[in-house]
Amino acid sequence: MMYKSMLRLFSHVSSSAFSSNLPLHAFITGANRGIGLALTEKLMSEGIRVSAAVRDPEHSGELQDLRIKNADLLCIHQLDVRNEAGIKNLSLEITDPIDFLIHNAGILGPIGKEEEISLESFEEVFRTNTFAPWILSQHFLNHVRKSQLQTIVNITTNFGVGKPEEVEGFIPYRASKENSAFLMRILNSMDPHVRVINLHPGWVRTNMGGPHGELTPSESAEKIYRVLKDTSSKPKDKLEKGIIDVTTYRERVSSPLPGITLGWI
Ligand SMILES: NC(=O)c1ccc[n+]([C@@H]2O[C@H](COP(=O)([O-])OP(=O)(O)OC[C@H]3O[C@@H](n4cnc5c(N)ncnc54)[C@H](OP(=O)(O)O)[C@@H]3O)[C@@H](O)[C@H]2O)c1
Repeated sequence: MMYKSMLRLFSHVSSSAFSSNLPLHAFITGANRGIGLALTEKLMSEGIRVSAAVRDPEHSGELQDLRIKNADLLCIHQLDVRNEAGIKNLSLEITDPIDFLIHNAGILGPIGKEEEISLESFEEVFRTNTFAPWILSQHFLNHVRKSQLQTIVNITTNFGVGKPEEVEGFIPYRASKENSAFLMRILNSMDPHVRVINLHPGWVRTNMGGPHGELTPSESAEKIYRVLKDTSSKPKDKLEKGIIDVTTYRERVSSPLPGITLGWI
């Protein structure tokens, strides 16, 4: 009981930017469905302003509903992440600082283990999953640098990544996601202040994850938010360099006294 009260008492210590009066702003790609839509809704429910980028705003009904409910917190933009000219134009259109630049848009591509993979398929999957996060980050880097939290978030996966022998099939997808995490680590090393993290969102019941996933999109979004909140309080050199699995992430409860950790939740 007392332990829980202490946790509650000190939990705010690690989230000062979140509880400050200055509004936070997130930019998220692929926000019209799945994890992107759920994360948009979660961030808005926490009072964070969201610039939501989607390929086809006119057919983004659920996102449009969120805007009707709270127009102050949501702005919808058209963007195909494979289109560098579109990315550049949008980076000129959006002038506000971006606290969280979230690379969420992604595709699976061919999944079979024996099918031939065309160069075109590889290019399509890498353009979307690997190159787009890098190109977007380049064009929006100054927006991130001007913000309070200066964080770039890459939604990647731990599925068949790191140990390629353990999973069959999904070859372009796994290769593209592993390389996107690699590029994000390079980006992280290039700027002393901008923080770049790679997240695995869990196995989620979306079009991509299928009906047997372990989490609903909202559950995944809750866990992603928890990680964002916790990591935003940590010094850059204390951030996890590998892919953070949001389903097993343990939040460190910090003590106001230096050197003392109260526990883990
Ligand atoms: N679901 C899982 O279990 C799982 C596990 C690990 C990682 N992830 C990652 O989580 C992210 C979201 O996945 P999800 O499960 O929510 O998938 P999803 O339901 O299939 O949604 C994918 C989103 O990406 C967008 N997108 C695809 N290509 C795009 C492009 N060229 N330009 C702009 N937007 C594009 C889609 O927009 P359209 O509607 O226009 O196609 C859609 O909004 C992906 O990066 C995925 O790799 C998912």
